[in-house]
Amino acid sequence: MTTPLQVLVTGATGRTGSLVCQKLQQHPQQFTLRGFARSSEKVQQLFGAKDNFFFGDIRDPKTLIKALEGCSTLVILTSAIPQMKGIPQPGQRPEFTFPNDEIPQVIDYQGQVNQIDTAKASGVNHIVLVGSMGGTNENHPLNSIGNGNILIWKRKAEQYLIDSGIDYTIIRAGGLLD
Ligand SMILES: NC(=O)c1ccc[n+]([C@@H]2O[C@H](COP(=O)([O-])OP(=O)(O)OC[C@H]3O[C@@H](n4cnc5c(N)ncnc54)[C@H](OP(=O)(O)O)[C@@H]3O)[C@@H](O)[C@H]2O)c1
Repeated sequence: MTTPLQVLVTGATGRTGSLVCQKLQQHPQQFTLRGFARSSEKVQQLFGAKDNFFFGDIRDPKTLIKALEGCSTLVILTSAIPQMKGIPQPGQRPEFTFPNDEIPQVIDYQGQVNQIDTAKASGVNHIVLVGSMGGTNENHPLNSIGNGNILIWKRKAEQYLIDSGIDYTIIRAGGLLD
């Protein structure tokens, strides 16, 4: 029998991250799940037990070190999250913004660079990065959300991973269905 792969999923309380965690937990002979999240309340609500979860913030690389110790695979599912600016009037398009310190440059680029660098230093040998379609189109409408250029920063992070020398899988998702 082979030893299960130790896999860390970041963004574990997100829409896709929580599904990936559930899927990995369904295959205990192949994978041992670790989750990385910033809210213990959300982890409690979604998963019940918190034993295999680590808490921190991808903007602070120190908080990733323990989570990645002894892991062979990292799955990156973190993302900046736009917020609606007020409630639109009937017939008006909603406007979006990002919190000041959680703009795509900080979360989708620097936050991913922090994860890639810490994973590399910890001896992780494969990184799965879930990004988005449209990264090579600077004029993609998603870039205008909150003036965040989110796809451009996600694409820069992909390039950083490609150049890192670690084995990688990049998934450029379109709209995901549960
Ligand atoms: N869902 C889709 O249809 C879709 C389509 C195309 C591409 N994608 C891509 O797939 C990836 C995941 O998407 P998603 O919809 O699952 O995203 P999501 O639900 O918005 O989840 C993002 C996750 O990132 C976490 N996060 C944000 N800032 C953080 C920080 N500073 N430190 C630690 N964690 C932080 C959030 O934590 P909290 O839970 O605490 O907020 C959340 O768990 C993204 O790259 C997205 O572009 C998704």
